[in-house]
Amino acid sequence: MLRDDDLAVAAGRNADPAFLADVLTGLAGPRKAIPARWFYDHAGSQLFEEITRLPEYYPTRTETRLLETHCAEVGAVAGAGRAVVEFGSGSSTKTPRLLSSIAPSAYVPIDISGEFLRESAAGLAQAFPGLPVLPVEANFMSPVALPPEVAGLPKLGFFPGSTIGNLVPRTGVDLLRGMVATMGESAMLLIGMDRVKDVDVLERAYDDAAGVTARFNLNLLHRINRELGADVPADAFRHRAVWNDTWSRIEMHLEATHDLSFVIAGRRFAMHAGETIHTENSHKYSDRSARQLLAAGGWTPLREWIDPDGLFSLILAEAVPEPIAP
Ligand code: AVI
Repeated sequence: MLRDDDLAVAAGRNADPAFLADVLTGLAGPRKAIPARWFYDHAGSQLFEEITRLPEYYPTRTETRLLETHCAEVGAVAGAGRAVVEFGSGSSTKTPRLLSSIAPSAYVPIDISGEFLRESAAGLAQAFPGLPVLPVEANFMSPVALPPEVAGLPKLGFFPGSTIGNLVPRTGVDLLRGMVATMGESAMLLIGMDRVKDVDVLERAYDDAAGVTARFNLNLLHRINRELGADVPADAFRHRAVWNDTWSRIEMHLEATHDLSFVIAGRRFAMHAGETIHTENSHKYSDRSARQLLAAGGWTPLREWIDPDGLFSLILAEAVPEPIAP
């Protein structure tokens, strides 16, 4: 049995200990799983950008169109002068549309990747001269301390892309409650939520003909090899995207095509043909399940916009104190 120090040496001194711990723990049990957040190294982030432009991947373009069509109404309901707080801002591609329609008093992008954050914050500051842009480098999965400049301002949270769907309900509720803690009781939240639809449409969106999503999924194995001193035979795995009707979600897996074994940081793992590593959940919502998730997280929906094909919803919700319930 290797001790923690030995593991760090075997993985390489520069290995991220949190990545190493998630991979070793996730592969140790009988049902193997690795958290989806590890998809997003440089190569993974580029592949995700490619996914958002695929013909089969409807969420990005549908949500963008919803924003273009309805941002003025968001502004009318939310009112001018709010500080817009974006959770996991990334490249902030959808943000200019929102900022130009709602007369905000400040913009606070929150992201765990400092490099990404500073780049996109600088771009937005240039595009919106006069608007205070106050980036916060933090993990938004826990409540975040906002900059003192926005302390007295009402907030509008922005959480597009149906990223909430990558969380199991329990974690999603924790996050939504954390957003209330971060922004305060008078806050509003504009959130994108992907909808339940035809299984073929869903499975194709996560298993595209050009194989980009397959490369995105398999990149996780390449990343493990690159960063953790491992010898996982990535070409002996295949990408799988399957609808799980019980939990209303697309699951992505990496399936071993034959019996195999590999070593990560000095530990050997064996898998048999057909066994999978579960790498992502992407939950899809009905009108009711979306509302219930938001309510469990402390948010009351005020308005909901859905595209004409019923693919995607944009919901504006309000943080309200817990009502007295019977
Ligand atoms: C980031 N997230 C909302 C994407 C999704 O649709 O669940 C990630 C993704 N995985 C495969 N394709 C896209």
